[in-house]
This record gives sequence, structure tokens and C-alpha cells, in this order.
Amino acid sequence: MTEYIIGPFTQLLPMSNLPSKGAIQDNQLEVLTEAAIHVKDGIIKAVAPFERLTKELNHLPVKELETNFIGLPGFIDCHTHICFAGSRARDFAWRIAGKTYLEIAKEGGGIWDTVTSTRAADSNNLLVDLEARANLLLKRGVTTIEVKSGYGLDVENELKMLRVIKMANERLDADLISTCLAAHIVPREFKDRPKEYLELVINELLPQIKSENLSSRIDAFIEEEAYTADNIMPYLDAAKKMGMDITLHADQFSPGGSELGVRCGAISVDHLEASGHNEIEMLAKSDVVSVVLPGASIGLGCDFAPSRAILDAGGTVAIASDWNPGSAPMGDLFTQASIMATFQKMSNAEVLSGLTSRAAKALNLTDRGTLESQKLADIILFEESDYRELLYRQGRLVPKVIVKTGKIIE
Ligand code: NIG
Ligand code: FE
Repeated sequence: MTEYIIGPFTQLLPMSNLPSKGAIQDNQLEVLTEAAIHVKDGIIKAVAPFERLTKELNHLPVKELETNFIGLPGFIDCHTHICFAGSRARDFAWRIAGKTYLEIAKEGGGIWDTVTSTRAADSNNLLVDLEARANLLLKRGVTTIEVKSGYGLDVENELKMLRVIKMANERLDADLISTCLAAHIVPREFKDRPKEYLELVINELLPQIKSENLSSRIDAFIEEEAYTADNIMPYLDAAKKMGMDITLHADQFSPGGSELGVRCGAISVDHLEASGHNEIEMLAKSDVVSVVLPGASIGLGCDFAPSRAILDAGGTVAIASDWNPGSAPMGDLFTQASIMATFQKMSNAEVLSGLTSRAAKALNLTDRGTLESQKLADIILFEESDYRELLYRQGRLVPKVIVKTGKIIE
């Protein structure tokens, strides 16, 4: 079926016509009843009343929905680290026994542990595990998944990860958007020499990424134990000159990264658990998307990022899972988002836009995130009759039907 009509939806939430910045109340959400979607070659041609569409286009096949269905744009998980090998169950045990994330890293756990396992893994094993995680996300309605490198931390292994992500993208139904996180932590081989390592990344890794078309985005972890505003700047400048988008791990344990992100024109700054009043005001005035990561707060047992305050000040908030083996091992975006909503007092409209239209903005993608003409036909269908059931059920509801670029997956 390359061209068809799907409907009628009991409620269809196109998520278009919403403000891209600031707080949103549920009464601002457009909720269409008895609507249908005309799909052609993976693209939405029209969203219109079911009766009208089926009459006007009566030659087209109809995927008729015979029970109650809610339709939404496919979720976008705009920050994950799901390409990795090994487990950090030992870290987790240490953490729930009272050690902090940074203490564990100093004692041989942490990111470096996953770097060791990922370097030792062959591409095929990485690919199999990445595909399994991406398919799990897809089943829960995530049709676009950002995936970072950052567990290779040398030219060869960063390329290995990015090639695996590219290969998985070609094979899977979900879209994977890759990001080079070579500036995750300073590799042991370059202890106390971050600048030298970053020069290697600029001179050898980025040109190869460009020539193989492996990614158009870079990320860096801004924290005293990783990279500082001082030593990262030449790297961000070089990447920008090569036409790459910038995103940062910012204000996770201490503030500073978000300010750098705004200054260097980042597309998004992610984490923000440690952002205070000044950071919130600055983010709200900027066009940088604030990506909050409830999975990391749940995984580490620390406060949620101040999403309510960022929205009230006028900022854009997207929500992502941060799925990784260390700080956020759960990987269940919708559950995490609904839990964050209760603590931060986010409305249905703010959470759902944070998983769709605003998450698309965090990835600089203009072809998805809403259901309207010319956008990708990425649609998720929950067998419910009131959209408010979705968050109320705190992640227990999964979509019954998923449409990815027009392909119907049941
Ligand atoms: O987003 N903070 C840095 N990076 C990841 C964690 C990665 C890991 O622990 O393996 C994060 O929390
Ligand atoms: Fe992360």
C-alpha cells in the first residue's frame, strides 16, 4: 500500500499550530474527532474528516479503524546512547549502596568501563544489541531515535560505532539520527591532555565522519571531570566550520554547559538538572532547545531538571530517555516522561509536544513531529478514546499500530 487513507480516529492530535516556546495548556491542543489521514509514498498528503476524504478519494484503499483509536505523531527520542556493549549493574549496585556517579567513575566504573567493553566488542555484536534496543523503542512508539557514539574515544572505535549506527539505520524501520560524542570524557591515553585529544578528533575523526557521511552532529559532555568551557571551544568552532550541528551535555552536576551552549549556537542543551535561575532565564530567551532527561534522574536518584520553570520563563522543553548503560539504564521514554510530569507539573500538551514537535526541533528536523500535509507519515495509534489516558497510565499503554514513513506495523 503506497497510497491509502487511515481512519477514522476517535481523537487525532496533529500537534501542529502549537507555540514552539513556553508553557502550553491542554485546552490549546487541537483534538480532531472522526478525522483521517491520507498517506502517499510515506508522506502525509492531508488530514481531514474521514467521510470527506473517503468520498473524495473513493478509489483509494482504506485502513479502517473499527474500534476507538487515538492518533499522534510518532515519538522522537532525541538523546540516547543505545550503541554500547556490556552492563553497568555493578555501578548501579554501588550507587544504590550510596556512592555517587562521580565517585564510581573515579573507582573504575562509569563511562570508562563501557568504553573498555565497547572497544572490545566487534561490530556485529554491537549491531545486534543496538537493533534490539531500537526495535524495543519502536514498539513503544518511538519512530525516530537519536544515537550517540562516545564509547569508542579513539578514531578507530568512534568510527566503528558510527558505522554500526549507520548500518542499523539502513536495516531498521525506525530512523536513527547519529551524533558524534567523541568528546564524552577524556580518554585514559590522553589523561590531562584534552586539547591534544580534541586536535586528533578535529584533524582525523571529523573529516572521516564527513567523507563517509556518518553524522552531521557533535555532542560534548561539559563538566569538570569531562570537558570545560575553556578546552572545548576550539573543537566546537572547528565542528561548526565543518557545518555540524552542536548539542551539549550541560548542567548535569554543575552549571556552565548551558551558557556555553547558548554562546556557541547549540541546537540543544541536554540534562540541566543543575540549572539555576540565571540559566533558566538565559535558556528561555534563546532559541536553544532544553532537553530534559528524566531517565537519568531516576537512574541516579537525583532531582529532575526544572522543566516547569523553563517553560514558564518561555523556553522550549523536549524530553528524551538518555538510555545508556550507566546513568539511565531503563530506556522507557514514555514511562519516564509521565513520571516527570507528576513531579514537575507538566501538562499533557507540554509532555506530548516534548516527545514530538519540540523533540523534532531539538534534532533540527523539520520533516516530522506533527501530523500535517508534507510531513513524514510517522503515526502512532493507541487503542483508547481519551488522549488523557496516555499519561494517566504512566507508560503502561503501548501503541497497537505504528506507521513509520507510511509503512503499517501492527
Ligand atoms: O547522559 N553524562 C554523561 N553521559 C551520559 C552517561 C553515560 C554513561 O554513564 O555511560 C549521560 O548521563
Ligand atoms: Fe546522555
